[in-house]
Amino acid sequence: MSPLLALGLLLAGLCSVHCLPENVVVKDQHRRARVDDHTLTSSNTDFAFSLYKQLALKNPNKNVIFSPLSVSIALAFLSLGARGSTLTEILEGLKFNLTEIQETEIHQGFQHLLQALNRPSNQLQLSVGNAMFVRDQLKLLDKFIEDAHVLYSSEAFPTNFGDPEAAKSLINDYVKNKTQGKIEELFKVLSPRTVLVLVNYIYFKARWKIPFDPKHTEQAEFHVSKNETVEVPMMALGLETPYFRDEELGCTLVELTYTSNDSALFILPDEGKMQDLEAKLIPETLTRWRNSLKPSKIHELYLPKFSIKSNYELIDILSQLGIEKIFADADLSGITGTGDLVVTQVVHGAALDVDEEGTEGAAATGISIERTVLRTTVRFDRPFLIAVVLKDTQSIIFLGKVTNPSQA
Ligand SMILES: *[C@@H]1O[C@H](CO)[C@@H](O)[C@H](O)[C@H]1NC(C)=O
Ligand SMILES: *[C@@H]1O[C@H](CO)[C@@H](O)[C@H](O)[C@H]1NC(C)=O
Ligand SMILES: *[C@@H]1O[C@H](CO)[C@@H](O)[C@H](O)[C@H]1NC(C)=O
Ligand SMILES: *[C@@H]1O[C@H](CO)[C@@H](O)[C@H](O)[C@H]1NC(C)=O
Repeated sequence: MSPLLALGLLLAGLCSVHCLPENVVVKDQHRRARVDDHTLTSSNTDFAFSLYKQLALKNPNKNVIFSPLSVSIALAFLSLGARGSTLTEILEGLKFNLTEIQETEIHQGFQHLLQALNRPSNQLQLSVGNAMFVRDQLKLLDKFIEDAHVLYSSEAFPTNFGDPEAAKSLINDYVKNKTQGKIEELFKVLSPRTVLVLVNYIYFKARWKIPFDPKHTEQAEFHVSKNETVEVPMMALGLETPYFRDEELGCTLVELTYTSNDSALFILPDEGKMQDLEAKLIPETLTRWRNSLKPSKIHELYLPKFSIKSNYELIDILSQLGIEKIFADADLSGITGTGDLVVTQVVHGAALDVDEEGTEGAAATGISIERTVLRTTVRFDRPFLIAVVLKDTQSIIFLGKVTNPSQA
């Protein structure tokens, strides 16, 4: 076996069924809204691959796992409060083409998506949600509160950030609870100057339609690199399932289906071909794969059982993807009506377990926002007066006018 697949895809792959909600749209808006759902899905996929490439680049030879959907939703949620070029940057960074889709359609798209993802199913545990933790004295605009609630189903919790340890526990415990204990410490630190934290969480648990038999799981070699081999529990199964041998990109694909009909796509590049394949990860490649996967008899499928986790701070990576104003020169005036808010952290945690029974995954994204310290600037760049005054006697010992500092 060569090095394992692009794991980041797993959670993206879950989109196959759930990112295209069928029945969530009402009456005559039907056709338009379906188009929007499709645009949303392709933008989210584009963003997923772009983010994957940055994370893989920053974490060479490490496992990569994240939920692109969680990051997309959290940033779209934040964009509710962004204005002007700060807003454009977030939406374009999320790969929306603003000549083709309007801001309100994007938010409606996410609203539909959240409704579709949270529809109860007895074949699948899936929950996706948003929350905001608000400093007691922070006065949010009614419009922001309403949009957060209606479009992003966000709960709001008053929070005393003056006690940062307690605030951190409140947020981390909330996320831990919503992710069934899988994301334990989303925020490692939180500044006492924080005024608002936005959170998205995702929890997913599904069973394979055709499970692996634990009796057939055996220790086997996994080739981390040409040089390095480790022993892993290797599951084994014979089954008929969608399969594609991609000669063009030099990789083999196997899709495993859950009882809910969602699926995980496993992509195995030929030896030494991981980087070439990563470079080709674009939405068109995924579409080509989807059209090429055909049910085939696989006599022996060997897949390691694994459990991986990650923790990322995304400021640098989002800046690479063109989302930078939020961190320095932000216009987040849609949140409070004032122009003094700035994003100070974007943290993401994810965990994914794959075993004989199925898959359990969780992820969360947290965005912390602070007030910028108002900077007072006075620039003496034109003629000015000077008086030197002795403190005790208030005597003026020098008085002058500077009209040209370069003259003697
Ligand atoms: C956005 O869409 C317009 C119209 O469909 C197209 O001409 C343009 O190239 C697109 N821009 C990007 C960056 O894809
Ligand atoms: C999450 O919170 C609910 C309600 O407070 C509680 O009933 C549940 O047991 C908690 N779950 C976990 C995994 O902590
Ligand atoms: C193999 O490992 C050795 C020492 O650990 C290292 O010097 C060498 O560059 C490695 N070769 C390859 C192809 O990675
Ligand atoms: C999954 O797909 C199969 C075949 O199309 C169908 O019979 C079954 O009802 C579907 N299951 C669910 C949970 O949607």
